[in-house]
Amino acid sequence: MTVHPTDVGDAAPKAPFLPPLRIRDLEFSPPVLPAPMCGISDRAWRTLSREQGCPLVFTQMVSSEAMVRGRDRCWDLLDMDTSEQPICAQLFGSDPETLAACAKRIQDAGATIVDLNMGCPVNKVVKSMGGSALMKEPELVRRILRAMRAALDVPFTVKFRAGFEKYGEEAIAISRIAEEEGLDAICIHGRTREQKFKGNADWSVLRVVKDIVSIPVIGNGDVKSADDAMRMIRETGVDGVMIGRAGMGNPWLFGQVCARLSGLPDPEPPTVEERLDTMARHARIMVDRKGDRGLVEFRKHLVQYLRGFRCAKVLKTKLMGVTDAEVYFREIDDMKRHIADLEAEAEAVAAAGA
Ligand SMILES: Cc1cc2nc3c(=O)[nH]c(=O)nc-3n(C[C@H](O)[C@H](O)[C@H](O)COP(=O)(O)O)c2cc1C
Repeated sequence: MTVHPTDVGDAAPKAPFLPPLRIRDLEFSPPVLPAPMCGISDRAWRTLSREQGCPLVFTQMVSSEAMVRGRDRCWDLLDMDTSEQPICAQLFGSDPETLAACAKRIQDAGATIVDLNMGCPVNKVVKSMGGSALMKEPELVRRILRAMRAALDVPFTVKFRAGFEKYGEEAIAISRIAEEEGLDAICIHGRTREQKFKGNADWSVLRVVKDIVSIPVIGNGDVKSADDAMRMIRETGVDGVMIGRAGMGNPWLFGQVCARLSGLPDPEPPTVEERLDTMARHARIMVDRKGDRGLVEFRKHLVQYLRGFRCAKVLKTKLMGVTDAEVYFREIDDMKRHIADLEAEAEAVAAAGA
């Protein structure tokens, strides 16, 4: 059974390992946040991570330029309304006035917090001077933050990397500017833009920045377990932990980290049935929100949910080509009934091939 921080039965919590994350007048406890991720942090991902105890969720980033051009796709990508509060909506762009106007729009649409993306390493974004490219332009950053701050009443945060090419210096400079311009928190991913998602995240800059600024600092990069989260907090003193890729196909990770930071016992790992049920529910929410496209988009999650199943290949083959949602969910039901046989069969095949 999955134990949620809010549903702990008889287990008496010890003292929480970390106090709530305070972003201006808002408190988030336990301070465990699912990362904003393009194509991933949609309504389904946000629902599941919130159910596991995450007190604040993030939309994926949307382009301020596209938003002012009136592209409805931006609002589809955000797929956000007041029922999801507290929610942090993320923008990217490079023009101060455009970003400020869009920040106000997403605030008015129900964002509890507005975040600026200054970490995206993708060439197309960097070429337009958005995402991580801004880290090289501190004066432009100051103008952007000032304009957005003036446009917003809600808390305002920024997420960036450990640097563009060189580790550390730019991140320290941006942290200082963020504090001077009245931002309410910062989040740092311990990789440079050069690294993209390769190599290991280096958390040392988090510790340096924590000593320099007095606004909350959220740490991000390579947190794959509750032990990693504890280690990041111990080594750097961050006020909160953000988790991205390791939560894909494994929303229980959020529950595990939430429990640990709340001083609760480690939850039981999910049963096979729970894993398949959650996988189906994730797909169902995506289909409900996006129609048939939801099933296609779900494929990247499917692969992750099936990690660790001996019969993953068989299950994947069964589901990958299915385009009809009802057939899809019938197949998953069928798998649930026969999973023990499928796993035994896969083991026998593996043993025969060994
Ligand atoms: C597919 C993908 C999409 C991402 N999209 C965004 C995004 O829209 N906004 C953002 O701030 N970071 C984005 N990121 C970066 C993550 O938020 C996070 O900083 C990064 O994955 C490192 O954390 P992790 O090691 O826990 O995954 C994305 C990462 C991935 C893998």
